[in-house]
Amino acid sequence: MRIGRAIAPPRHRGDGLIGIVPRVRSYHFLMTIFQGKSVLITGASSGIGRGVALRLAGLGAQIGLVARNQDALELVRKEIAAAGGTAVVLPADVTDAEQVRASVEGMIAQFGQLDILLASAGLSLRAYFESCQLEALERVMRVNFFGALYATHFALPHVKKAKGSLVAVSSLTGKRGIPSYAIYGASKFAIQGLYEALELELRPDGVHVGVVSPAFVDTPLRANVLGPDGQPWANPPAPPFRVWPVEKCVDRIIRLLVKRKRQTLMPWFAGPLLTFDELLGRVLGDRILMRRFPP
Ligand SMILES: NC(=O)c1ccc[n+]([C@@H]2O[C@H](COP(=O)([O-])OP(=O)(O)OC[C@H]3O[C@@H](n4cnc5c(N)ncnc54)[C@H](OP(=O)(O)O)[C@@H]3O)[C@@H](O)[C@H]2O)c1
Repeated sequence: MRIGRAIAPPRHRGDGLIGIVPRVRSYHFLMTIFQGKSVLITGASSGIGRGVALRLAGLGAQIGLVARNQDALELVRKEIAAAGGTAVVLPADVTDAEQVRASVEGMIAQFGQLDILLASAGLSLRAYFESCQLEALERVMRVNFFGALYATHFALPHVKKAKGSLVAVSSLTGKRGIPSYAIYGASKFAIQGLYEALELELRPDGVHVGVVSPAFVDTPLRANVLGPDGQPWANPPAPPFRVWPVEKCVDRIIRLLVKRKRQTLMPWFAGPLLTFDELLGRVLGDRILMRRFPP
């Protein structure tokens, strides 16, 4: 109980546990789901991956923390350990298949099983495609798509054995083309395609496959967003829509895991908006997006 309370999420309107899981009144239920589960998280040193690592550790899961920055991972591990949780640092650059393989093997060596993969490692590039250097475009694809692909490939046999979950963090840009997010969106559409097919392939084996597609979330991602030359923007363009708290995104991911859902969009009204956009032949959506995301 100490762990659950120690890393409990803030309780704000609509985000409390009752909001996350209808008919669930306490952490006890969630702990019965996640207690003793082994969870490998790429991108665990920051933002959404870090948030999910802390939350799941608080619910009794054993966490494998993957990213490049070993010091940042060690801080997350210490935070989890200080609250009574269990985590291991498994540094890797997700663009290197062998490093990702070693992280998965490290997880199995440490915990003997892998129940859940959360592929959250990613970076963003905001610039019109025409102005982008090829190396920058390739880098986004390597981190966002191949990073998720390698983690999924090596985790799959273990997750299949556990009848567990494969979850990838995509984006609303992976559901709808948005100016200045051509390559970022392409990397997320690719994840969407991979995971949609995997969901059908693995359903008979009892594996849960899910995709999380958030709008703007309050993490360091946007401060580090790359420009057309592949270098971070000195002054990144301001997001033209609301930026959501990271805890809200963590809630959505926990809910997706508990309900073994195929997909979750954030905010909730993104789904109806996308349907409405299609019904209107995308005319209104195109106009809004072109105005909000100028060159
Ligand atoms: N924040 C948003 O607005 C938003 C919206 C929609 C979707 N997303 C998606 O959510 C995911 C998480 O992003 P975030 O918002 O949490 O961003 P973040 O705070 O910047 O975290 C990104 C994470 O990815 C890791 N990473 C980056 N390149 C890597 C590499 N080559 N190898 C291993 N790890 C790498 C980073 O760690 P190291 O630097 O230590 O390697 C960090 O842990 C991403 O896939 C992003 O596309 C974010």
